[in-house]
Amino acid sequence: MVGVAGGIAAYKSVEVVRLLRESGHRVTVAPTRNALNFVGSATFEAISGEPVVTSLWSNAADVSHVHLGQHADLVLVAPATADLLARAAHGIADDVVTNILLTAHGPVVLSPAMHTETWRHPATQANVATLRDRGIHVLDPAVGRLTGSDSGPGRLPEPAYLADVVADFLDQSITRDMAGMHVVVSIGGTREEWDPVRFLGNRSSGRQGAALARAALVRGAHVTAVVGHVECPVPPVQVRVDVESAVAMHKAMQEVVFAPDARVDAVVMAAAVADFTPSSVSAGKVKKDGSVPELTLTETDDILAGLVASRGHGSGPVLVGFAAETAGDRTSLESLANYKLARKGCDLIVANDVSDGVFGSDTNAALIVSEAGVVDEIPTARKGLVAHRVWDQVLRAPGLGIYDAD
Ligand SMILES: Cc1cc2nc3c(=O)[nH]c(=O)nc-3n(C[C@H](O)[C@H](O)[C@H](O)COP(=O)(O)O)c2cc1C
Repeated sequence: MVGVAGGIAAYKSVEVVRLLRESGHRVTVAPTRNALNFVGSATFEAISGEPVVTSLWSNAADVSHVHLGQHADLVLVAPATADLLARAAHGIADDVVTNILLTAHGPVVLSPAMHTETWRHPATQANVATLRDRGIHVLDPAVGRLTGSDSGPGRLPEPAYLADVVADFLDQSITRDMAGMHVVVSIGGTREEWDPVRFLGNRSSGRQGAALARAALVRGAHVTAVVGHVECPVPPVQVRVDVESAVAMHKAMQEVVFAPDARVDAVVMAAAVADFTPSSVSAGKVKKDGSVPELTLTETDDILAGLVASRGHGSGPVLVGFAAETAGDRTSLESLANYKLARKGCDLIVANDVSDGVFGSDTNAALIVSEAGVVDEIPTARKGLVAHRVWDQVLRAPGLGIYDAD
């Protein structure tokens, strides 16, 4: 079920419905009367391929206001207006959407979109708190350009993000068990400049890192993302730092993780960082002039080991590394993961075998190892599910949230 309320972002819900259908879901759309001022029911009907439910009274014999909620695997309302949040928080059931919310058996996800003042208004915030207390998943709006020239928190997140969030909720039960936590995730691949037009890169698409950021956001965490080159949308994290090279990522990670007052609880290094970088960068384009140029490489600094060193002993954030290996079999993958865990000195290693086209794919299979051995083994699954299982292990890590007194 996709409910659509009367906000300017209603046009984006059409794309959400299209993406959900493309991933194989049956989608019934229920727009409020005000939503129909922005998008006509013919558009929703054509895109969803299902009749649109617009009124409590149009098909009373079907009692659709009850059974739509009862039978939906999930109800998403995008955008959710301030008005709809208020009505939902108070149990008002004066239209199809609010009736569906009161009869829903599956997860209910509301994605608010409104002006910053409206979002920050104590009445709206109180309604959000009430809904969250009741187990309704109210996503935080994205920060950015609003209607007109305004910008700030209040944007509807991008449709691809909402479609991924729906898939995550359908895969597993999610709660706000990371509320109050601050986590840092590195996403994507680094690019090492050789000359003004060429670089050494890698195949990382950023999808696993994006899934980790998304999972932490829906579980209520404050997320800082350090983002390299990506081929996927980056979730609407609270803080985003874009970088290109391994050196820049190293610097950014040290700065965001150990900033005074940052109080980071956990760091997941999901980015694929170059191990080697050209020893020198040519100021002009290297020309094809008959001789083949020689490219000499220098080893880059190890970002994860650097975080471990800066953390010191017994305090600071839980540190998680990823190991992309071409192991071939499970035994070799496990021993490579254990070796990397010992070499880096971090708390968890998520090892995946990348010989089989993990880069750019929506799925992954992983082993999570700690000092205690293999703590989770995830057979091929959506990267969203792998992400949630990584956070599950972070929440179990000894030492989470312990800081030095100074
Ligand atoms: C042009 C226009 C844009 C609007 N955009 C929003 C919006 O983005 N978010 C919001 O909460 N309300 C917005 N409103 C106000 C809602 O339409 C209004 O509160 C309405 O009662 C919501 O009805 P509904 O919750 O039944 O859909 C907008 C109104 C207009 C006229």
